Amino acid sequence: MNIQVGIITISDRASRGLYDDLGGPALKKASEGYGWKVLGETLVPDDKRDIQRAIRELIAKGCHLILTTGGTGVALRDVTPEAVREIAVRELPGFGEVMRYESMKITPNAILSRNLAAVVEKTLVICLPGKPSGAVECLGFVVGAIPHCVEVLHEVPTSC
Ligand code: MTE
Repeated sequence: MNIQVGIITISDRASRGLYDDLGGPALKKASEGYGWKVLGETLVPDDKRDIQRAIRELIAKGCHLILTTGGTGVALRDVTPEAVREIAVRELPGFGEVMRYESMKITPNAILSRNLAAVVEKTLVICLPGKPSGAVECLGFVVGAIPHCVEVLHEVPTSC
């Protein structure tokens, strides 16, 4: 199955133009490296309604997988997990568990990230940390499970 991807950068400062969005382009490069097709990229502030709207728009475009970067930390403005959980049909806790476990080998601050994956409609949404290198690292820790997950959600016959 050819995986179609949407990327959302979630950052108050980048959306106000105070600094360049580096996380979105880093995830685009990584996605293309995995052979996926990037259908859309969006930049939104740390606002639940904006995040939810961006997810719905990318699903309407046909994305099987949505990667978000940012807003997973402890700052009071960090609301990415709350925004996704509100519209999710189910959460996939294994993704967050593995991302934090593996990231702890790189930085003790990984424990602060509330990384998660969830299903919205039939789309897998994976919420990655805001630091571009951290987002790409975390994606790498879970990438092995993504094709099977997307196929199951789209009812593609699989061997397991
Ligand atoms: N995970 C990995 N693999 N590499 C990183 O550099 N940065 C951490 C953490 N997870 C990091 C990481 C830091 S510094 C923070 S504060 C949290 O992710 C939350 O980031 P966010 O609020 O920008 O999403």
